[in-house]
Amino acid sequence: MADKIFVKKLLSWNKKENRRKMPWKGEKNPYKIWLSEIILQQTRVEQGLKYYENFITAFPNIQALANAPEEKVFKLWEGLGYYSRCRNIITTARHICKDLGGKFPTDHNSLLQLKGIGPYTAAAIASFAYNLPFSVLDGNVFRILSRIFDIETPIDSTHGKKEFSKLAQEVLPLKRAGEYNQAIMDFGALICKPVPECSLCFFKEHCMAFALGKQLLLPVKEKK
Ligand code: ADE
Repeated sequence: MADKIFVKKLLSWNKKENRRKMPWKGEKNPYKIWLSEIILQQTRVEQGLKYYENFITAFPNIQALANAPEEKVFKLWEGLGYYSRCRNIITTARHICKDLGGKFPTDHNSLLQLKGIGPYTAAAIASFAYNLPFSVLDGNVFRILSRIFDIETPIDSTHGKKEFSKLAQEVLPLKRAGEYNQAIMDFGALICKPVPECSLCFFKEHCMAFALGKQLLLPVKEKK
């Protein structure tokens, strides 16, 4: 099956060739993973890096964030936009410290109950921090799966979201979820980019879009 070959080749590329360095990579602390993922929700990695460092320095743990005056947190967020994210991290940090004994939830369902945490962020925290078998489904994953399997279902349709979510979960190697999720994001950022670097790609012999010359036509979107 193409998906088994993809996982094998992706993990091998990740170990041997992936040089992408980011401070949250390999991080196991759910607080730090959560902060990085909230910052990166609507922000490019290059811009998010400095904010992440500043936040971790100012608030090295969830107690520090929960106890900080709101103005100080908003001040550090300044320039990132989407300020509801900032309000949500304050609410969630205080909730965890006040009602959950200061410990980040360790299961996917409880993560989903937290303000500002949707399916993507819950899967990222669950897999990176606890290696739980949840696949992340972000723009990279939609693009990569649509290309390797030549799927033309619009990724912004209800049906498309279901189809890709099911496929992403089927492809995921259950015992190496964290490693795989980070590797597929890096593959999307470095090789299977919106304009892809197929000449560098370890999977071009198996990629259906490459065989059909359709890389630039996938993924399909319903709305412009
Ligand atoms: N964007 C969101 N989360 C990311 C991560 N963990 N690595 C790279 N880019 C990301």
